[in-house]
Amino acid sequence: MEPKPEDLFNIGSKTEVEAFSFDPELKNRLRHLEQDSALEVKLQQREIVRKNELLGGMNDAIAVQLKDDGSGVLKLESREKVIDSYKKERAAYIVDKFLGFGLVPPTVIREFIGDVGSLQEFIVDTLELHSLMLFKYGDCDTIEQSRNQKLKVFHDYLNDFLKLLIFDYLIHNSDRHDFNFLFKEGRIYAIDNGFTFDDKNQLRLFMPDNLFASSAKYILSPELKMNLNKTLEWGEGKSLLREKFKILLTQKQIDTFFKRLDNLRSIINSKNIITAIYTAR
Ligand SMILES: Nc1ncnc2c1ncn2[C@@H]1O[C@H](COP(=O)(O)OP(=O)(O)OP(=O)(O)O)[C@@H](O)[C@H]1O
Ligand SMILES: [Mg+2]
Repeated sequence: MEPKPEDLFNIGSKTEVEAFSFDPELKNRLRHLEQDSALEVKLQQREIVRKNELLGGMNDAIAVQLKDDGSGVLKLESREKVIDSYKKERAAYIVDKFLGFGLVPPTVIREFIGDVGSLQEFIVDTLELHSLMLFKYGDCDTIEQSRNQKLKVFHDYLNDFLKLLIFDYLIHNSDRHDFNFLFKEGRIYAIDNGFTFDDKNQLRLFMPDNLFASSAKYILSPELKMNLNKTLEWGEGKSLLREKFKILLTQKQIDTFFKRLDNLRSIINSKNIITAIYTAR
């Protein structure tokens, strides 16, 4: 008997689904998206035994110590300047899990003495950009020297910076200033991800001022490009992400996120990734 057209279609789509479910990296990502990791559970459940106001900043971030071991950065709803920024901290972490980038320290939502907020793992012994510049390249006496040092750091950490730019574009970050990412052991950590997902605020990306003037064209490494192309076709991951977003973001914020995710297709295939991110809407 001749197969019906819909049977052919089913065979085709099934093979496609199977191809994805056999990809060990995607399988891992899916598990990580579905279930909270041991670290997330620890952040959610362990008693907070000490707190320290020293972090200061816009949102009155509090450094806290957890019982037995571990520390975190707590941002309470009652102290926030922008509505629901603690939820966006968590949503940004979930996007990072979805992308498999590993930029954002584990971030959960938890209650604390009649309040609620985000708690992010505190990464010890990090350097912020300006300390790293001083440490690696020494004093700079002029603005021009400082710009050149930033560009050097950008080149030294190119792969992580390109991931960070893509990540910030997707979450529509309006606050990626020089102190909102940290360096440790060759990696970048993206912190302070609460001013995000709202299109009405202007997108703000980390960008050395002289980046556009430099003659270099920035393209993605083949691995990163392949990873992103895979993510864009990853239906199971996208539906799970949509589910996870429901308790964290408004419908409009969710829809505009997925619109930006669609835009990524043309961004990653462009000849100059930075220009492409900047001109994408
Ligand atoms: N996960 C983390 N690990 C290590 N240090 C962190 C972490 N999160 C925050 N910090 C430190 O605490 C500072 C303040 O935290 P954060 O930037 O998240 O708060 P904020 O109040 O929103 O700051 P601002 O408005 O000044 O950008 C950071 O600049 C950084 O030095
Ligand atoms: Mg900050």
